[in-house]
Amino acid sequence: MKVLVTGGAGFIGSHIVKKLIELNHTVITLDDLSTGKKSFLSEVMNHPNHTFVNGSVLNRNLLESLIDQCELVFHLAAVLGVKNTVENPLKVIEGNIDGTRNVLELAYPKKIKVIFSSTSEVYGKNDQLPFSENSSRVLGPTTTHRWCYATAKALDEHLCFAYAQKGLPVTVVRYFNAYGPRATATQYGGVIPKFITSALKGEPLTVYGDGTQSRCFTYIDDMVTGTLSCIDNQVNNEVFNIGKDQVLSINELAGKIKILCNSPSPIIHIPYEIAYGNGYEDTQNRIPDLTKANKLLNFYPSIDIEVGLRKTIAWYKENLEKE
Ligand SMILES: NC(=O)c1ccc[n+]([C@@H]2O[C@H](COP(=O)([O-])OP(=O)(O)OC[C@H]3O[C@@H](n4cnc5c(N)ncnc54)[C@H](O)[C@@H]3O)[C@@H](O)[C@H]2O)c1
Repeated sequence: MKVLVTGGAGFIGSHIVKKLIELNHTVITLDDLSTGKKSFLSEVMNHPNHTFVNGSVLNRNLLESLIDQCELVFHLAAVLGVKNTVENPLKVIEGNIDGTRNVLELAYPKKIKVIFSSTSEVYGKNDQLPFSENSSRVLGPTTTHRWCYATAKALDEHLCFAYAQKGLPVTVVRYFNAYGPRATATQYGGVIPKFITSALKGEPLTVYGDGTQSRCFTYIDDMVTGTLSCIDNQVNNEVFNIGKDQVLSINELAGKIKILCNSPSPIIHIPYEIAYGNGYEDTQNRIPDLTKANKLLNFYPSIDIEVGLRKTIAWYKENLEKE
C-alpha cells in the first residue's frame, strides 16, 4: 500500500514509518520537524520506498497533493507536551484541530482511510479505573490551559467520527504513555526520557508532586503493533485504547531507572506549581481497559517495563555520547 504518515519524523511516527517500510509498504513521511528529527528516520531515509517531505499538515495544498497519492493515512502530527499545553495553548489548539480537520477533509473525497493518534489524556481526571473506550471524560475548567490538549484531541476524535458518519473509513487509537528509543528528552518530552537523561548525567531525578501518581508505560514496539493492526478494515469507525495495563507510580519508575542506569543521582520531589505554575492539576492514575483491543485487534502488549527500559537506556547511552 502507499501510505502517508504525518508526524513521521517524531518519536512514535518514526517507528511506524520504519515498520511500514519493513512490511514493504511505500511511505511518504510529512513532518515540519518542529519536534521530530530527520535523524530519527536515518534507517529509512534513502530507502527506495520512502519519501520525506519537510512541511506542515497546516499547508492544505501540500497535504492535498500527498493524500491524493496515498491509500491510507496515519495522522500523528500534533503539538503536544504538558509544558506546551500550559505555556502555548493557542499553538496546541490550532496545531491539533486545524491539522486534523485538514487531514479528514482532504481524505474524504476519495474515502482514504485515516488512522488517528489520540491520547489517554482525553479521559482527563476520571477516577473510575480502568478506562474503557466508552468511559466518560472528566475535565477541568476551560480557564485552566492544562485541559486544552485533551479537549483538542477529543474534538479531533469527534471530527473523525463525524466524517465516519459520512462514509470516511477512520480508526482512532488512544495511546497510553509511550516510551522507547527516540522518545526525546526535550522540555516537552515525557518523564522517562527526562529521568534517564538525568540518571545518566548524574543529575537529580526530579519528581513532580509526591510521586504516588501512576501511569501505564507502553514500549514503542507494542504501540506500533497496536497501531498497525488498525489497518484492517474490519475495525473502521472504532476507537481503541492502545497501551499496556502494567501500573507503575512515578516514584517506582524513578527508582527503577536509577537502578538500571546504575546512577548515583538523588531522587527529589518538587511541587507541581514550581514546574507548571499555579492551578496545574495532574491526573492521578491512568489504566487502559484492553478488552476491546484484545478482542478486535488481537492486541496483547507484551514488553515488560524492565525490558523496555533497558533498551531505552541503551539507546540514550549511545545517543547522549553523540551530543
Ligand atoms: N508519546 C506518547 O506517549 C503519546 C501519548 C498519547 C498520544 N500521543 C500522540 O501520538 C502522536 C505522536 O506523538 P509523539 O510522542 O511521537 O510526539 P512527537 O512530538 O515526537 O511527534 C509529533 C510529530 O509531529 C510533527 N509535527 C508537529 N506539528 C506538525 C505539523 N503542523 N505538520 C507536520 N508535522 C508536525 C513534529 O515535528 C513531530 O515529528 C501525537 O499525535 C500525540 O498526540 C503520543
